[in-house]
Amino acid sequence: MQGVTVVDHPLVKHKLTLMRKKDTSTKGFRQLLKEIASLICYEVTRDLPLEEIDIETPLTPMRAPQLAGKKLVFAPVLRSGMGMLDGMLDLVPAGRVAHVGLYRDPATLECVEYYFKAPADIGERLVVVIDPMLATGNTAIAAVDRLMEAGAREIRMACLLASPEGLSKFRGHHPDVHVWTAAVDEKLNDHGYILPGLGDAGDRMYGTR
Ligand code: URA
Repeated sequence: MQGVTVVDHPLVKHKLTLMRKKDTSTKGFRQLLKEIASLICYEVTRDLPLEEIDIETPLTPMRAPQLAGKKLVFAPVLRSGMGMLDGMLDLVPAGRVAHVGLYRDPATLECVEYYFKAPADIGERLVVVIDPMLATGNTAIAAVDRLMEAGAREIRMACLLASPEGLSKFRGHHPDVHVWTAAVDEKLNDHGYILPGLGDAGDRMYGTR
């Protein structure tokens, strides 16, 4: 699908398989999510602009590349987005963080905001929205809407698993927001869960069920 990159590196595929297994422990699930998040972050940031600066090595002066522009903003959607944040910050330690508190009403599957805090100059930064499960697409759409309302202009979406339904809905609402995911699964079930999926990502990473 246009505007979607499936990060199908063998390490990502292997780790995702471990995460899908129902017997994987809470500790294992959390660790794997962090590791996959770093690998996805590597791809999301692949085309970041560089600028040349003058430096001196111990042997000689040289021109060398460094990242240009303002620091990135990672925008985890609470709560499960938090499980991918540290893996991304491991690669981009100076990144800023915007917390987007949204939950899915279990009856309507619509999003309700309960917390939002973002850097004031978010409009001058690349924003990477983080939500492991792009299921119905409603949460991701609402998160991007809210970040745009706060001034964000350049936005990318990073997830772990996506449904075909959620992806096309999301791309329909936000055609300018490129999506990176480790896999696109078969379909959504009647409760808005991704099949075959991995269950409830938040519950599995925090051991709440
Ligand atoms: N959220 C989850 O945690 N899992 C799904 O399958 C869908 C939404």
